[in-house]
Amino acid sequence: MILLKNKRLFIEKYETVTSTNDLLKEKALSGAPAGTILVAKSQTAGRGRMGRKFYSPAGKGVYLSILLDDLKTATDNLCITAHTAVAVAKTIEKYVKKQTQIKWVNDIYLNGRKVCGILAEKISDVKRASARIIVGIGINLQEPEGGYPKELGGIAGAVFDRQDDIDQDRFIKDLITAFFEDNHDLLGEYKERNMLAEKDVVIKQGDEPAYTAHVIGIDESFGLRVCLSDGTETVLRSGEISVREKVTD
Ligand code: BTN
Repeated sequence: MILLKNKRLFIEKYETVTSTNDLLKEKALSGAPAGTILVAKSQTAGRGRMGRKFYSPAGKGVYLSILLDDLKTATDNLCITAHTAVAVAKTIEKYVKKQTQIKWVNDIYLNGRKVCGILAEKISDVKRASARIIVGIGINLQEPEGGYPKELGGIAGAVFDRQDDIDQDRFIKDLITAFFEDNHDLLGEYKERNMLAEKDVVIKQGDEPAYTAHVIGIDESFGLRVCLSDGTETVLRSGEISVREKVTD
């Protein structure tokens, strides 16, 4: 996957922004080139998928967005998210020496807690003939003093301990390097970390009622292969998945 034709990066650092994705969208529409990367120490209106907020306390995480040229098909959005997830996973693993897990396809987990969310968005620009892609990455590096807000439902966790002395600039540099590296075994590296393999899950798609399924695996374009309760197999390209805990007596 060629992510950047001109191979040039334009990195801008900020103390506080509303949302790096929103600011980058404005910049993209005013002509910022592909390869523009915005990094903020905190966000006042960080966004997650499904209109959710992304908690972005100052100095406790990496909040960054990368501008790319158009990817042509709908499956490319899944591929770029999977590519990002593997790059984030490998960067975290370099520091913590533990394997992370990818929850299809936007979330990275460490020790059973969500430590990263990815939000890839397509923007169309009427002045240009083509759309562009913004890849937003939010990583919880350290838990804030008062812990994570209750509404995060005990899911959020951090990559490092509170007392760890971390070099955030180095972490960000490693992440950007990993993101732009060619990955010759993306599918294999994704599958090694697939958190949903063989799990019973609940699927929610838009306003449709939720339904249950059993996950078979990931297909070659990063769709989620599932077996429905009537035994039919299908491949999901979107949706919100939660894992069904096994009930034991
Ligand atoms: C999710 O968990 O649903 C995705 C979260 C994505 C958060 C990142 S932080 C940087 C960028 N700016 C945003 O407003 N969101 C993304």
